[in-house]
Amino acid sequence: MLNFDFYAPARIIFGKDTQQKIGEVLKPHAKKVLLHYGGGSIKKSGLFDQVVASLNEHGIAYVELGGVQPNPRLSLVHEGIRLAKQEQVNLILAVGGGSVIDSAKAIAMGVHLDHDVWDVYEKQLPIEKALPVAIVLTIPAAGSESSGDTVITNEEKSLKYGYGSNKLRPLISIMNPELFFTLPKNQIANGVADMMSHVFERYFTNTTHTDLTDGLCETVLRTIMLNGPKVLANPQDYDAWAEIGFSGTVAHNGLVGMGREQDWACHNMEHELSAIYDVAHGAGLAVLTPAWMRYVYKDNIDMFVQFAVNIMGVQMSYRDKDALVLEGIARLEAFFRRMGLPQTLRELGIDDTRLKEMAKKATSIAFGEEYPLGNLKKLAWQDVVNIYQMCK
Ligand code: NZQ
Ligand code: ZN
Repeated sequence: MLNFDFYAPARIIFGKDTQQKIGEVLKPHAKKVLLHYGGGSIKKSGLFDQVVASLNEHGIAYVELGGVQPNPRLSLVHEGIRLAKQEQVNLILAVGGGSVIDSAKAIAMGVHLDHDVWDVYEKQLPIEKALPVAIVLTIPAAGSESSGDTVITNEEKSLKYGYGSNKLRPLISIMNPELFFTLPKNQIANGVADMMSHVFERYFTNTTHTDLTDGLCETVLRTIMLNGPKVLANPQDYDAWAEIGFSGTVAHNGLVGMGREQDWACHNMEHELSAIYDVAHGAGLAVLTPAWMRYVYKDNIDMFVQFAVNIMGVQMSYRDKDALVLEGIARLEAFFRRMGLPQTLRELGIDDTRLKEMAKKATSIAFGEEYPLGNLKKLAWQDVVNIYQMCK
């Protein structure tokens, strides 16, 4: 096990009707908030009115900025920074999913900068401070409600970069599984694929003596795979949503990756798909992950045997480890198919004309120099092309 520094201070308020507490819990922290949201699902569901009523009841003023798109855009972040400064808000309240939360985090740090917030993503600059961010979560997926991360798309440059800082950890996240009942099936499936990937990125490692976090990862993955099909079949299943929602948070608050070298190749490869083709993050991960597994497994076959047995429930002879691992990967693909997720780049509307360009970008993030992706197996740009090719 490696040395680590675990810090995950977000206060998570979980359960039925908890969104109605938002005014009460924000009162000690905020006089005026920027109420940030997406394309309108919260207005249709009535959540917007509930949040506003709670803010009003507790005397918290607000200014609103909607319109966050999936793969949140830098231009709206700029608008939010202008508005937050002009209105002198002292907290950003994100009501939505990962895209809204990530946009809120970008605004929260941007108000304190005297240069473009994009520089922070592009040059991975340290930040001194950020406004506090509070959240009412409407889709369990990205885990941004518990992470210090934000991922923003620079639409002019077709770049999608992430940035992480403990200063961006949310102050308070409210999670009521009832708010997930209105999710369309494709978003349910995308969320499940994303939270599974957050565990895989930490699980697949060359670090040894990681029994505790191996077990935590395996339990989270089995819980997601047990309950994902239930919420897909019945989007009103509160108990199954409660399991999925809690799993999504645990998958990405950092705990299950402590003491382990982490991978993140699939996420970096996926960000290129989203940056150019605007595909949903979880759908892109569902396509890439099985191909990545097939490409890298021989570099640490025992780790993949453990995955096949402990997570995918494969019972086969240990004498043919390749067959055992490939059966595990096939079962993962079958699970994704059952969730209605895409399996190929073609299904995502991606042809092979820009694979090389994406691979080069994925392996030269931020500093313009080639550096390999991932850790379980270090991937050069040609490896990334090969993996994209396997997904055609
Ligand atoms: O915009 P609205 O109208 O609200 O509709 C949204 C959006 O179209 C809809 N939706 C959300 N809650 C709903 C709902 N529709 C009906 N009922 C509800 N209750 O769902 C669509 C997708 O929303 P989005 O916020 O984009 O989803 P998600 O949470 O999957 O976030 C994806 C983004 O998070 C980033 C991804 O790259 C992507 O940009 N990530 C952020 C991470 C982080 N900050 O830690 C880590 C992740 O790896 C990920 O990269
Ligand atoms: Zn993700």
